[in-house]
Amino acid sequence: MTNSELIEKAEKASENSYSPYSKFRVGAALLCDDGEVFTGCNVENASYGATCCAERTAIFSAVAKGKRHFVKIAIAGTSDGSFSSITQPCGVCRQVLSEFCSENFKIILTDSNGIHEMNFSDIFPLPFVLSI
Ligand code: THU
Repeated sequence: MTNSELIEKAEKASENSYSPYSKFRVGAALLCDDGEVFTGCNVENASYGATCCAERTAIFSAVAKGKRHFVKIAIAGTSDGSFSSITQPCGVCRQVLSEFCSENFKIILTDSNGIHEMNFSDIFPLPFVLSI
C-alpha cells in the first residue's frame, strides 16, 4: 500500500465526517501489518469534549477487530474540500497511537506540496507510560 493510496483512503473517509460544529472534515486510514486498512473520520458532539478525532476512530475500530500491529497512518483534513493544508494528529491521538505503534511507525500527511512521511517517534518522542 503506497502512501498515496493510503492518503486517498483518508480523503475518502473524511466524506463521512460528522462535523457540524467545526465544519472541519478529517479522515484517517490506518495500515495494519497484515495489509488490512481501517479508516475513520471525526465524529463531533454538541458536548464538544465528547468529540472523537478521525485517527482515534480508525485505531479503535482496528483494535475492536483484534488488530494491534500497525505500519502507518494517513491523515487528511479539510474545511473546503481541498486538502491543501497539513493536518497533524492532535496530542490525544498521538498518545493513543503510542500505545500500539512501534518505533518504525510512520505518519503520512498531505498538503498542496504533496505527500509527507514522518517518523512517529520524531513527533511524539516521550509518551506517557504507566509504570505500576
Ligand atoms: N480533528 C481530528 O479529527 N484529528 C486531529 O488530529 C485534529 C482534530 C478533528 C476534531 C474536530 O472534530 C475537528 O477536527 C476540529 O478540531
